[in-house]
Amino acid sequence: MTPIRRIVLVGFMGSGKSSVGRELARRLGWAWRDTDEEVERLEGMPVAEIFARRGEAHFREVEERVTAEMLEMEDVVVGTGGGWGAVPGRLTSLGDDTATVWLRVTPEGALERVRGEAGKRPLLDRPDALEAARALLAERESAYRLAGIAVDTEGGDAARVAEHVLTTLAGPPWNLNAEKV
Ligand code: S3P
Repeated sequence: MTPIRRIVLVGFMGSGKSSVGRELARRLGWAWRDTDEEVERLEGMPVAEIFARRGEAHFREVEERVTAEMLEMEDVVVGTGGGWGAVPGRLTSLGDDTATVWLRVTPEGALERVRGEAGKRPLLDRPDALEAARALLAERESAYRLAGIAVDTEGGDAARVAEHVLTTLAGPPWNLNAEKV
């Protein structure tokens, strides 16, 4: 079995990728990388502004490049933007040393979590946000589902979700260094 050298978190906006990812990285002593943060750093502006000024297509191009670079790293937890893992073929093209984790959230739970975090999620910044979240999640679910493991995040705090991820990845068919778990 190939040892796992990186964990990639995918899932909808507000599924807790950043908080769970930070906790996983802390527990493993690995690096933490957030693709949205890196895109914002490179572009010099928040995600919402990139969408407004340069367009979503441009954001997606930079996101793809940034994520691909992060996936070259070892001993890293990568938190992807909600759109990245929704592109068909992405999750199935990763090697055996990469564990993909889908953090599941309901549209209601997602909106609850992103409330008050303006600037990062232009796709939900609209009066009918719940309808939009439902439609987008329904559209993306079949792609997220291809992740190696799926974890429900509703009602669980980041530490409990991280614990569950680590315990799962420590057992077969995964091969995360159990000493660290
Ligand atoms: C997006 C999710 C956001 C951010 C951008 C687009 C999406 O990241 O990349 O607003 O298409 O789902 P988070 O999933 O970290 O909120």
